[in-house]
Amino acid sequence: MAINLKGRSFLTLMDFSPAEIRYLLDLAHSLKAKKKAGILNEPLLKGKNVVLLFEKTSTRTRCAFETACLDEGAHVTFLDSKSSQMGKKESLEDTAKVLGRFYDGIEYRGFDQKVVEDLAAFSGVPVFNGLTDVDHPTQILADMLTIEEHCAKPLNRVKVVFCGDIRNNMCYAWMYGCAKMGMTFVAYGPASLKIDPEVLAAANAIAAETGAAIEVSADREAVKDADVIYSDIWASMGEEDKIPERVKMLTPFRVTSELLRATGNPDVLFMHCLPSFHDFETTMAKEWREKGYDIREVTDEVFRGKNSVVFDEAENRMHTIKAVLCAMI
Ligand code: CP
Ligand code: NVA
Repeated sequence: MAINLKGRSFLTLMDFSPAEIRYLLDLAHSLKAKKKAGILNEPLLKGKNVVLLFEKTSTRTRCAFETACLDEGAHVTFLDSKSSQMGKKESLEDTAKVLGRFYDGIEYRGFDQKVVEDLAAFSGVPVFNGLTDVDHPTQILADMLTIEEHCAKPLNRVKVVFCGDIRNNMCYAWMYGCAKMGMTFVAYGPASLKIDPEVLAAANAIAAETGAAIEVSADREAVKDADVIYSDIWASMGEEDKIPERVKMLTPFRVTSELLRATGNPDVLFMHCLPSFHDFETTMAKEWREKGYDIREVTDEVFRGKNSVVFDEAENRMHTIKAVLCAMI
């Protein structure tokens, strides 16, 4: 059956079938090829308007949405919580209804998943999740595109090991993505970081249908035969007060050359959503080092090494977000 995603919102991969995710990845591959070939005629979003709402900071997601829109002829408005009435003087429901009258699509990045759900319920236009506390679905599309570019295996034979804060938005988004695409996924982190049982149960229910395997492990053996070692910062946006306890818990899960060797796969990909602490070139990494904490979740050697595909991955945010916009608006 032909796939048509027009008018749909992109709140979580759990709302999409494996065939629909496949369709978005194929579209992203072809839009990337089109951009690389310099084909600029027939923009797919001509005359459309998209608003980007950010209650947390961003480099990649904002720039990916902006460049994707501009490449395809759409206009963009950026709003952050300081420069809009959203939440303070105007309810979310009223804001959604107003934005739905002006715009053909709404991107939201913030804290609560319920906000993207309410924006979608009240605006009447497609809403795109640009990261919440519990999900980051556009990142997973970019990651899958990158895996397909660098790994000869089909996705359903790929093993992804997520190392570190296994209860964060990236780990949950990966659990959903792997479950949907029949992949093998290991959340490799300390047992003291508890995965939400509802998230795990939901991923396992999908895995039972697709043949995916979803595991949680604190044992180094779990990285064996990985095709992808994935990492993320140890304290997500809004959790910075947790840094001291996380450094203590997660230092054994830092991605090092030794960890890559433990996979037994010389071609294992190192992936990271970015931003990453891999050296001391950021004010945060420096400030915490002065207080006695090394917050690097990956060594500089791995980050810059031959297995790392992190900048291809970052570029692919643009191509995959473009696919989502073109398919749904
Ligand atoms: N990976 C990602 O979402 O990056 P930004 O926080 O810079 O948008
Ligand atoms: N877990 C990180 C992801 C950033 C893209 C955060 O939420 O800060």
